[in-house]
Amino acid sequence: MSGPLLAGLGLGVSFGETAALEDVSLSLSAGEVVAVMGTSGSGKSTLLHCLAGVLVPDRGEVSFAGERIDNQSDRRRSDLRLRSFGFVPQFGDLVPELTLLENVALPLRLLQVGRREATGRAAALLDELEVGSAASRRAGAASGGQVQRVAVARALVHCPSVVFADEPTGALDSATGELVLEALVATARDRGSAVLLVTHEAVVASHADREVVVRDGRLDLLAFPTVG
Ligand SMILES: Nc1ncnc2c1ncn2[C@@H]1O[C@H](COP(=O)(O)OP(=O)(O)O)[C@@H](O)[C@H]1O
Ligand SMILES: [Mg+2]
Repeated sequence: MSGPLLAGLGLGVSFGETAALEDVSLSLSAGEVVAVMGTSGSGKSTLLHCLAGVLVPDRGEVSFAGERIDNQSDRRRSDLRLRSFGFVPQFGDLVPELTLLENVALPLRLLQVGRREATGRAAALLDELEVGSAASRRAGAASGGQVQRVAVARALVHCPSVVFADEPTGALDSATGELVLEALVATARDRGSAVLLVTHEAVVASHADREVVVRDGRLDLLAFPTVG
């Protein structure tokens, strides 16, 4: 395949009178980590949701692997998300009745991976993110920091082509945040996933190959690529 793995072109989203996103274009290549920065309310989550096919933009197009996805049915976009995308929501959004381990194994189970293998892969990721000792805790009883790490593990467990992470370190201390960022960057380096990382912290963005800034729903063209 030539061209970017994921591309948004001229994206626009309005919520009533609010223009959350205006004419934003952004593309990602395989193996690339891109940070989306911007203050609260600037449109970062809206951009992420459009690119991930969670939200259909009012204007513009989104393509994955050369194929338009924004005009596909809800069912096809859900299926694409399950197979090819990993999404870390800003507030975790785990299934509260399931254990942390079951939450991470869930995408694999939905993809028909056997229970044993799914559980093994989920447990290994929880260990890597240093939350393995809480694996049997119900998600509804877990701390914010545990939920956030488990949401990251759930997004990575099926080796997706694209990982979307919305403020994935917001509830973590800096050492644990570092662990999460390393796991996200390793996914890009080792498996060639594209990683789109939303943050308002410069230290988080410094892990990315490239950073863009959203301001009032528009991409700030004054943002320069980060070095190193
Ligand atoms: N579902 C929604 N309904 C109404 N307004 C929304 C909705 N989602 C986002 N917005 C508005 O769109 C703008 C961008 O929001 P968002 O993308 O969540 O910003 P960020 O993630 O940068 O904090 C904000 O003004 C926000 O209030
Ligand atoms: Mg947000």
